[in-house]
Amino acid sequence: MSIQRSFLAWGTLSAALFLADCSEPSMSTGIPVAGPDVAVGSSESPAASSPKADEATATPPRHDSDMTAAPAVADAPKPNYRIAFVGDQGANVNTQAVLKLIKGSQVDLMVVLGDFDYSSDPNGWDKMLTDNLGDNFPVIAAVGNHDTGAWPGYRTKLATRLAKLKGISCEGDYGVNMKCKVPGITLAVSGVGTMGTGHEAFLEKTLSEAQTPWKVCNWHKNQKKLQVGGKSDEVGWLAYETCLKFGAFVATGHEHSYERTHLLSSMERQTVVSKENKLVLEPGKSFAFVSGLGGREVRDQELTGDWWAKIYTSNQSATFGVLLCDFNIDNNPRKAHCQFKNIAGQIVDDFQLESKLPVN
Ligand SMILES: [Fe+2]
Repeated sequence: MSIQRSFLAWGTLSAALFLADCSEPSMSTGIPVAGPDVAVGSSESPAASSPKADEATATPPRHDSDMTAAPAVADAPKPNYRIAFVGDQGANVNTQAVLKLIKGSQVDLMVVLGDFDYSSDPNGWDKMLTDNLGDNFPVIAAVGNHDTGAWPGYRTKLATRLAKLKGISCEGDYGVNMKCKVPGITLAVSGVGTMGTGHEAFLEKTLSEAQTPWKVCNWHKNQKKLQVGGKSDEVGWLAYETCLKFGAFVATGHEHSYERTHLLSSMERQTVVSKENKLVLEPGKSFAFVSGLGGREVRDQELTGDWWAKIYTSNQSATFGVLLCDFNIDNNPRKAHCQFKNIAGQIVDDFQLESKLPVN
């Protein structure tokens, strides 16, 4: 009910449109997109519906537990909760290779950073996800510029998929001004630069209210200096700076390569505050990445800068892959570990995160 109340309190026209377009029976009740507050793939879920059920015994734990005293966090991620960040998928053999990599990586949630199949084919894209991941695999997505032409169809497919999930709740205008919540992690999913209005105000409200140790901003497009290819300024700095202000890191796609910044104190000026491989997130300090190697193509590097910690383009003989981030590692809800892994099994980028975000 709290979800319903907060959703109704926003009362946005876009959210109302989102509800109107949803075909799930639950949508007509006024509950936007939510599942019970039970962990995705947890022991409380039926084994048959768990995305990890067929790998639970075959794959060793991803992080050893050191059993040291963990900092108290009231709203903590599930141990080793793994999110896959991927954009610019296409619908080809490379796309399927990336999806197979995700399927085999004990992923708890896939975040698609826009540009799905490039064919405006919601049925085909959703079938590809089902064929490779299963029809109840946890997926949320931001709208990309190649998705706008068939967005009502994509949105309905995504909302239908989300309504089946446990342990994740979302509210707002799907993929445009949407807040999603899993234990310990708040994900703001935005159409900034691509679709809709009011994104910066939505980000400000969502991130200022969030009481989780981890906050993530997710959208499709870029600012020119926060990608290394040929993209221009299409987002504006306020969205990036709003995320940084609250210590939220920024996940994007659009440029078809992978690149990640060092820890920054200004996105607009690309001010580096640390080049350590452990990035300590706090209000006013964060980082951004582009994860656009979901299968469509691999593009070249045209720009550089000392704010980049990792650049992986065709200049570096890149191939397709995904950024995997594990939260609450080593029994510490404020620690995370991320790796960009390609379809050849190579670890391209490997870094640690620590959260110093205040939680009331
Ligand atoms: Fe794009």
